[in-house]
Amino acid sequence: MKIKNICCIGAGYVGGPTMAVIAQKCPKVNVTVVDINENRIAQWNDPDVEKIPIYEPGLSEIVKEARGRNLFFSTDVESAIDKADMIFISVNTPTKTYGIGKGMAADLKWIELCARQIASVAKNDKIVVEKSTLPVRTAAALKDILDNTGNGVRFQILSNPEFLAEGTAVDDLKNPDRVLIGGDIDTTEGKEAMDALVSIYASWVPRENILTTNVWSSELSKLTANAFLAQRVSSINAMSELCEKTGADVEEVARAVGMDSRVGPKFLKASVGFGGSCFQKDILNLVYIAKSFGLEEVADYWEQVIKMNNHQKRRFAANMVRKMYNTVSGKKIAILGWAFKKDTNDTRESAAIYVTDYLLNEQAEVVVYDPKVTEEQIFSDLNYLGTRSDEENRRMVTVVNSPMEACQDSHAIAVLTEWDEFKELDWKEIYKNMLKPAFLFDGRRLLDRKTKEEIGFEFYAIGN
Ligand code: UDX
Ligand code: ADP
Repeated sequence: MKIKNICCIGAGYVGGPTMAVIAQKCPKVNVTVVDINENRIAQWNDPDVEKIPIYEPGLSEIVKEARGRNLFFSTDVESAIDKADMIFISVNTPTKTYGIGKGMAADLKWIELCARQIASVAKNDKIVVEKSTLPVRTAAALKDILDNTGNGVRFQILSNPEFLAEGTAVDDLKNPDRVLIGGDIDTTEGKEAMDALVSIYASWVPRENILTTNVWSSELSKLTANAFLAQRVSSINAMSELCEKTGADVEEVARAVGMDSRVGPKFLKASVGFGGSCFQKDILNLVYIAKSFGLEEVADYWEQVIKMNNHQKRRFAANMVRKMYNTVSGKKIAILGWAFKKDTNDTRESAAIYVTDYLLNEQAEVVVYDPKVTEEQIFSDLNYLGTRSDEENRRMVTVVNSPMEACQDSHAIAVLTEWDEFKELDWKEIYKNMLKPAFLFDGRRLLDRKTKEEIGFEFYAIGN
């Protein structure tokens, strides 16, 4: 089966970049990305390609090349579903905030809505691809809904988990370590559907890097991959605290450990804590699934990764307060970086949100600078925590457009995102304009201790 029309439901951090790359690499396939959020679609269609809603290096160039040729953004969900041979579901699946599984299970409300909509619109057979990170066995639920509420048409459900990391999404999509496709390997129709998706990716990914498995292995592989990655960060973060007590340097430890080819060097960077939309959500999901099968030890094992991460964020903030003579009340503190990592404007679960909340509880006056995150987003993140009213947050927090302005007359600076530009700042000038003693807290191991101490900073970095 040759795919001519693809529809992707959800124009977010996953759907947008993934479809842009598919459209670029498969110019003969029409790709329509739909979303119920009109504003988001309008931004994707903005004639000024720099104004697309997601910042990813290299993305705007691809959108410029493919948009209007074979890449379209629309709010007309039904017509896109109707035309498509293959439908990707890339809607958000946040952790449930209510009812059974609250705080742990994934909320599948949006997925179910999509399934029902596909079932009601579809007039011919379609392949439905789950692209969002989903709990194991979601495909089975999707199939149930599609088969029982549809117009008698047949659906093949594939799981095609996303392994792109934000900030490097375009490169990850163009040169993936592997593409994983799960499907019904026991039936001819299932195999045909998998082949159809394989042939899309094979336009640019070497065939040996495209793995096919059964649906459940595919779904569970995604959760496992993220759990392993997050576990590495929590492991090195745990060592960072021990380093601070013993005088070891976490970077030296990471280098030594990472040179063991069995361990490998990546994902061993100590930090103020991992953020992003996936790690915490996926591990909570894993914990929930394990618990639901009565596997308490498995659940506890993975939950510890999250506990360590929460501890790291709290510990960093508590340490700031302690170093500043146990009080930050009324003190101006500059936060450099709000995104959960560099080269993205995504702030979901960013450590900056929690560190700031902690400092605000201690009545600090916080000034934030991030090169890509909007003021509106920063307040929305703080308000979402529900610790304070919007009015209070706006009274205590100021968002500014330059790092110099953020640091002016401050007592302390916390570097919370590893943006390259923070390395290049005129730190001497910054120091001059701060109140003394001037504290510099490096939550990302971004800055060189020696040069900062020479300038005069009271310098603290995670893990020494
Ligand atoms: C992750 C997975 O990497 C990706 O494969 C999956 O598809 C989605 O989830 P993402 O969350 O976008 O991607 O970014 P990632 O690079 O994994 O970073 C996650 C968090 O961990 C960031 O806050 C990052 O700063 C932090 N991190 C990462 C560390 O603190 N130390 C490290 O060594 C690596
Ligand atoms: P992700 O990081 O998983 O891509 P985002 O929140 O960035 O998550 O994107 C998910 C997108 O899916 C949002 O823009 C949201 O408006 C969209 N969405 C959610 N439910 C539906 C739906 N039923 N139909 C169309 N779009 C939807």
